Amino acid sequence: MRSLPLFQISITAAVAAAACAKAQPPTVGAFVDADGITRIYGNSFGRPGYHATYDYIIVGGGNAGNTIAARLAEDPANYTVAVIEAGSFYEILDGNRTQVPGYNYINTITFPLGDETPLTSWGLTTEPQAAIGGRTAEYGQGQTFGGSTASNYMGYHRATVGTFDQWAELLDDDFWTWDNVYPAYKQSVAFQPPDYTKIDPSFNISYDATAFIPTGGPLHVSYGNHQGAYGPSLSDALAASGLDPIDGFNSGRLIGYGTATATIDTRTATRDSSETSFLQAAARAGIKIYPQAVVTRILFDEDKKATGVEVQTNVATGQLKYSLSATKEVILSAGVWHSPQLLMVSGVGPAETLQEHGIEVISDLPGVGQNEWDQPVIGLFLNLSVETNTQFQVGNPEVVAAAMTNYLENQSGPLSGFGTGQGIAFENFPESVRSDFSNSTLAYLETFPEDWPEVEYLPLANVPVGEIPITPYDNFILLAAVLLSTESKGNMSITSSSVFDRPIINPNWLATDADMEQAYAAFLRLREISSNWDTATGELLPGLGVSSKEDILDFIRGHSGFIFHGTSTCKMGPQDDPSAVIDSRARVYGVTGLRVVDASAFPNCPPGHPMASVYMYAEKIAESILDGN
Ligand SMILES: Cc1cc2nc3c(=O)[nH]c(=O)nc-3n(C[C@H](O)[C@H](O)[C@H](O)COP(=O)(O)OP(=O)(O)OC[C@H]3O[C@@H](n4cnc5c(N)ncnc54)[C@H](O)[C@@H]3O)c2cc1C
Ligand SMILES: *[C@@H]1O[C@H](CO)[C@@H](O)[C@H](O)[C@H]1NC(C)=O
Ligand SMILES: *[C@@H]1O[C@H](CO)[C@@H](O)[C@H](O)[C@H]1NC(C)=O
Ligand SMILES: *[C@@H]1O[C@H](CO)[C@@H](O)[C@H](O)[C@H]1NC(C)=O
Ligand SMILES: *[C@@H]1O[C@H](CO)[C@@H](O)[C@H](O)[C@H]1NC(C)=O
Ligand SMILES: *[C@@H]1O[C@H](CO)[C@@H](O)[C@H](O)[C@H]1NC(C)=O
Ligand SMILES: *[C@@H]1O[C@H](CO)[C@@H](O)[C@H](O)[C@H]1NC(C)=O
Ligand SMILES: *[C@@H]1O[C@H](CO)[C@@H](O)[C@H](O)[C@H]1NC(C)=O
Repeated sequence: MRSLPLFQISITAAVAAAACAKAQPPTVGAFVDADGITRIYGNSFGRPGYHATYDYIIVGGGNAGNTIAARLAEDPANYTVAVIEAGSFYEILDGNRTQVPGYNYINTITFPLGDETPLTSWGLTTEPQAAIGGRTAEYGQGQTFGGSTASNYMGYHRATVGTFDQWAELLDDDFWTWDNVYPAYKQSVAFQPPDYTKIDPSFNISYDATAFIPTGGPLHVSYGNHQGAYGPSLSDALAASGLDPIDGFNSGRLIGYGTATATIDTRTATRDSSETSFLQAAARAGIKIYPQAVVTRILFDEDKKATGVEVQTNVATGQLKYSLSATKEVILSAGVWHSPQLLMVSGVGPAETLQEHGIEVISDLPGVGQNEWDQPVIGLFLNLSVETNTQFQVGNPEVVAAAMTNYLENQSGPLSGFGTGQGIAFENFPESVRSDFSNSTLAYLETFPEDWPEVEYLPLANVPVGEIPITPYDNFILLAAVLLSTESKGNMSITSSSVFDRPIINPNWLATDADMEQAYAAFLRLREISSNWDTATGELLPGLGVSSKEDILDFIRGHSGFIFHGTSTCKMGPQDDPSAVIDSRARVYGVTGLRVVDASAFPNCPPGHPMASVYMYAEKIAESILDGN
């Protein structure tokens, strides 16, 4: 058995992957050359402690930040670009934990909530959430190059035609119509079709090949090299529950059931993050990277133009404080909680809050930190009569050994997949449960485009099994429902003028009647799907004993979970919307030289998982900048 040095693998993969790679060595981090000597590429990195000037400064090397950095730095623009990231490299800090897809059950803080605070996460905690029994939750956010793409569940899919046609209407800017965003989604992605020497050919995955282009990249999107054995029977259960098959979730349609793609590079069976894809490409284009560098403030001149940032790099022996200048723009890509925090501590936000903390008001924007969209999750733990990943997770020695050999020798088996994929489904609540909705709930749901599904059903084979007693022979799965059209909106605020004090996070999950009605309906649908699922041999949590409406609502309050899809805390909107923070090209109102480009910029959270749309959003704003807007 070969033992693979995975950091090296990831870098090698990225070299071959990058659209602009011409058999050059990578230039980020370390690289093992042909003689087996580790080379460190200092030229990829900025010098901490020294002032320097760039055309564009990107704050946050996450999902959006690395993407826009790469596009601005590449030919023909060749702008000088710096990426400033609070974290470091997850391959260095975290071993192989987030690289190996099948280990995502350790990474993903999900239902039931774990209490991990790994070195690559911010360890944020919410305020007590009244509607769910006063519980608090850890809110997952990556702190590393790659950001949340370095530790998320890797599910990749796109939103719908109606979602973006509605954005364009809301923003009065055709830049955001589906026809205009679809090419940008495609541009990021190098698609790898299913490899049936590794995936069981009987799965015969149906997908729309026109959703991808041969020139796309550098991000690899695939089905992994493994699909769970539960897929075909779950698909049958979804069909029996009234859903229709669909050829994947990347062509602007979601309603139906099918097989989801993931950000896994099948050649090495490792996670492709925005670091292994876009940042590696950008480094070759000559950008400068600042690891372990926290941006503490955005700097403005007297004309309210953003001129640079104040930075603090922490090293073992102390703190280095310095500033960096931007001749063109500062681009804020610090994520849903930290972008609004940085705006506020820099003088952009609700005037009252800023004054309370002694911060000089540069632009009074009451929408900063408001309007947060999120997607609560409820789920059933089921016992299956086919193999899931439970035994692997609990450490059944034979199962673990087989999975390791399969992965290291063939890059296949459960470690090479993300633990879901087949039998993902989206729908609008059918009449059987919809008939119980109140008129005001129905009226709220009417505000969404027709092709925007209200709920997603998501089988998760890689989740911590939590409170259920397990034997080494069990095969459990979480069948989750993700609510995509909830009414309550979250918010955040600051406790001081320092970014080192954690923001106050209030997702306000399930806080309205409309949300609880939908959660209850979703629970009933999960029960129906599970009752149609031949290989589901029992409901372990909550158990069929929980059957009255009262008990089910109690279960939802006590057990709803979260998948960290928060968006819109610096929302894009028209000038006459008092809660808008940025215009339709992500420029912050009331100042110049400053954009927000990340999930916080979305006017709403597109249905489903946001990562693909974050990549697309960064591609679109890069396109706008390169066009002179
Ligand atoms: C556990 C988990 C699982 C998920 N699963 C999925 C999934 O399967 N599919 C999917 O589509 N979506 C998933 N998501 C959501 C998705 O990953 C995020 O919505 C998306 O990646 C956010 O991108 P972003 O660019 O807004 O922020 P991020 O990618 O989080 O990047 C923000 C970056 O800014 C840095 N930063 C913050 N403050 C500062 C500062 N002051 N100075 C310097 N740097 C700073 C951070 O360290 C971070 O690297 C998941 C999220 C989590 C947390
Ligand atoms: C940008 O850089 C590339 C690679 O270094 C170079 O080939 C190209 O000519 C440059 N483009 C411009 C417009 O300077
Ligand atoms: C991942 O790292 C752990 C800890 O070093 C090691 O035990 C395990 O074998 C590695 N897994 C793979 C797939 O290489
Ligand atoms: C796979 O499915 C397609 C339809 O989606 C069908 O045409 C084809 O015959 C199937 N192939 C196998 C091997 O079952
Ligand atoms: C799960 O189902 C299997 C049969 O597939 C059964 O042997 C086992 O006892 C069940 N486990 C639990 C916890 O119900
Ligand atoms: C690797 O794949 C080959 C060819 O499919 C197969 O014969 C072999 O058994 C696999 N090895 C492991 C360890 O699964
Ligand atoms: C809800 O709407 C229906 C049809 O529009 C109407 O008949 C009914 O009276 C309304 N119910 C309530 C409680 O307002
Ligand atoms: C956030 O929402 C909660 C619940 O509605 C509210 O009590 C709180 O004041 C809000 N905070 C901010 C900063 O708007």
